[in-house]
Amino acid sequence: MAKKKIDLVSYDWEHIHGVGKNEGDSHFDLYPNIGLDDENNYIELSFDGNPTIRGNSTKFIMSKIAKKEWNKCSKDLFYFAETYCKIMVLGEGIRVIKLRPYQKVYLQLMLDNRFIISTQSRRAGKTVITLIYMLWRILFKKAYLAGYTANTAKLTKASMKMFQNMYCMLPPFLQKNVTTWNVSEINLSDGSKMMTSVMSGNSFRGEALDFLIVDECLNSKETITVRNKITKKIETITIGEFYNLLSK
Ligand SMILES: Nc1ncnc2c1ncn2[C@@H]1O[C@H](COP(=O)(O)OP(=O)(O)OP(=O)(O)O)[C@@H](O)[C@H]1O
Ligand SMILES: [Mg+2]
Repeated sequence: MAKKKIDLVSYDWEHIHGVGKNEGDSHFDLYPNIGLDDENNYIELSFDGNPTIRGNSTKFIMSKIAKKEWNKCSKDLFYFAETYCKIMVLGEGIRVIKLRPYQKVYLQLMLDNRFIISTQSRRAGKTVITLIYMLWRILFKKAYLAGYTANTAKLTKASMKMFQNMYCMLPPFLQKNVTTWNVSEINLSDGSKMMTSVMSGNSFRGEALDFLIVDECLNSKETITVRNKITKKIETITIGEFYNLLSK
């Protein structure tokens, strides 16, 4: 049977999915991430065969509730994270993140400061929180360029996978249309980008980034070259010494 065509411009999410009808419905029941026609065929809400992301030609109409939610998320990173960002939780599977108090502090630090050095313990949820921050920025700012670099190719790849999984699980009204989607880059139709690279002196050479994270750069014995703003002297010191200097 021929596939039924549904024009996404007139696709009524509110009506089809009963948005707001049952008070107890979770956001994810209210905003399913795929467009299905009434014969359960995927409609045009897809990129390169992936039905969980919006392709470049997707036309998308926002319901009233979706607009309200979009506005709320654009103003409140914490609301966005704790309502729409799904992660793998040990022993529980995939669920929306409940931010730990220190994760909120870390997010606030990124919101308030241009430069941050953060030392945290292993498995504290550092990478995932950084990725949530980057996701929020590329979704709610235009032409925002975010770069992620880690000390190994394995971690770089795993982090991009984590980022892409979070993106795919967002409801379509929070997504932008995608123009490039691969292991090292996601380009969005308004020019925002998420890029990854293995850490080296040449990472992101030629790119003017709005945000750069160097994940796992810290080994306290690693040396860095810094310029002292007051004395104007260029010095080579270990990260440990630098951290102690800043902590004084
Ligand atoms: N608030 C949270 N609640 C439950 N699970 C969480 C939370 N934050 C992160 N996690 C989970 O903890 C695990 C570790 O997260 P992540 O990789 O971000 O930690 P990390 O500090 O970067 O680890 P590493 O030290 O290995 O780099 C992941 O499975 C992640 O989904
Ligand atoms: Mg990590």
